[in-house]
Amino acid sequence: MRVEALVFDAYGTLYDVHSVMRRCEACFPGKGAALSQLWRAKQLEYTWQRSLMQRYAPFSTVTREALRYSSAALGLPLADHERSLMDAYLHLAPFPEVPAALERLALKRAILSNGSPDMLEPLVRNSGLRFDAVLSVDELRVYKPAPQVYELALRRLGVAKEAIGFVSSNCWDAAGAKSFGFTVFWINRANAPVDGLGVAPDRQIAHLGELADEVLR
Ligand code: LAC
Repeated sequence: MRVEALVFDAYGTLYDVHSVMRRCEACFPGKGAALSQLWRAKQLEYTWQRSLMQRYAPFSTVTREALRYSSAALGLPLADHERSLMDAYLHLAPFPEVPAALERLALKRAILSNGSPDMLEPLVRNSGLRFDAVLSVDELRVYKPAPQVYELALRRLGVAKEAIGFVSSNCWDAAGAKSFGFTVFWINRANAPVDGLGVAPDRQIAHLGELADEVLR
């Protein structure tokens, strides 16, 4: 089926979460990469754990708690750095190919993200990227890859399920979207193996620039 609308994951797909690494490095010289990596890993873990426990808290809270845990685990005193590092999340850099790639994709497009509106809206505004809708899991109080999250995009876009092209760099998110029934493009920037979750994305691309060739052919 032809793709009629595109739904994008935000963090790690359009926006480079490791662009906070520079700010981490400025706060904690020599530890920036370790902090940035543990922070992201814990942030994701907390979303899944909270969903399973049915103890939803917004992504901004989860992100702050993950930062506090990660800095404590690495023995890095956060103090005033917390504000500056949280602020970095509102100014994440889009991956370099993203603005030009989106220009080429003249289709209805939305973001569907675990980000809470207090993080997601300033991020999108600050980046200058434009979307027809910016959808957050926040109204559902459960995180991806819960199927009701993908259902939200389906309801809002009014396009047949298989005609939605879902784009994520997070393989677990691509798997969740495929399991729900979208046509899925996994941006595999790190050339990683597919996660063993019982569903595989429809297509793998190396960067967003390749998406237009896939959907406009
Ligand atoms: C998101 C994260 C999980 O934007 O990448 O949903």
